[in-house]
Amino acid sequence: MSGKGGVGKSSIAVMLAQILAHDGRKVGLLDVDICGPSVPSLLKIEAQPVMDSQWGWKPIVSPQGNIKTLSVGSLLSSGSQAVVWRGPRKTALIRRMIKDTLWGRLDDLVIDTPPGTSDEHLTIIKLLASTKPDGAVIITAPQKMSAGVVSREIRFCQKMGLPILGIIENLSGFCCPCCSEVSQVFSSGAGKYLAEKYSIPFLGSLPIDPSMSSVQQRGLSMKEEHPHSGVSEAMSHIKRRVIEAVEN
Ligand SMILES: Nc1ncnc2c1ncn2[C@@H]1O[C@H](COP(=O)(O)OP(=O)(O)OP(=O)(O)O)[C@@H](O)[C@H]1O
Ligand SMILES: [Mg+2]
Ligand SMILES: [Zn+2]
Repeated sequence: MSGKGGVGKSSIAVMLAQILAHDGRKVGLLDVDICGPSVPSLLKIEAQPVMDSQWGWKPIVSPQGNIKTLSVGSLLSSGSQAVVWRGPRKTALIRRMIKDTLWGRLDDLVIDTPPGTSDEHLTIIKLLASTKPDGAVIITAPQKMSAGVVSREIRFCQKMGLPILGIIENLSGFCCPCCSEVSQVFSSGAGKYLAEKYSIPFLGSLPIDPSMSSVQQRGLSMKEEHPHSGVSEAMSHIKRRVIEAVEN
């Protein structure tokens, strides 16, 4: 989750799912961003329809075969169709995506959310309350200016009784494709600042990596394509911290 748009929530949700699946865990990836779903394009499954059965929707299996996923983007006939849905319909749709979908046994269910604190967030938190979700992973940009909107997201989770597993700072410096040196492009430190302010774990930071867009356009995994990149190494560290936070 993040109060801010475009900070990498979807990219990180997908990478976390891929890296957990790479470890042999059974992973589900649910995209509840109704207005701007991006998981189908990040996994390159836009053309695949969701099959219905008498027991509910069948999640789409990622091309690599290791992630079960469901997104509103896949439930619409055309991926580019704009959806303007109001509260009750959104709630009903998200409820079906959780309760009437054949997820099967999963070790982890990663959920990608839209920016802010919308109907989608309220619905998902209420639906999952009885199952005691492990918690939220908060994403921030490095600039201190982002801290305000991200703070609101943190306070929202606290108010809703949703545990926070920790915070990730994304777009934190530029990782040179030639020598892997990281240079600071923006002011930085919002992640650590927020972690200290709210006493939540700092999970790590991810640099800006120019190879990410081509990997995403091909629906591939950073971990598989560029295992030694700054982003892949940071994600491995973040995955371990997330698992630690869940176990604690
Ligand atoms: N570490 C990174 N290095 C390079 N590009 C990145 C990085 N993180 C995210 N991006 C790019 O930034 C853009 C926004 O990322 P993404 O869609 O994951 O953000 P989001 O928070 O899910 O956005 P929204 O609020 O619209 O849902 C994408 O084009 C993605 O490829
Ligand atoms: Mg997104
Ligand atoms: Zn260089």
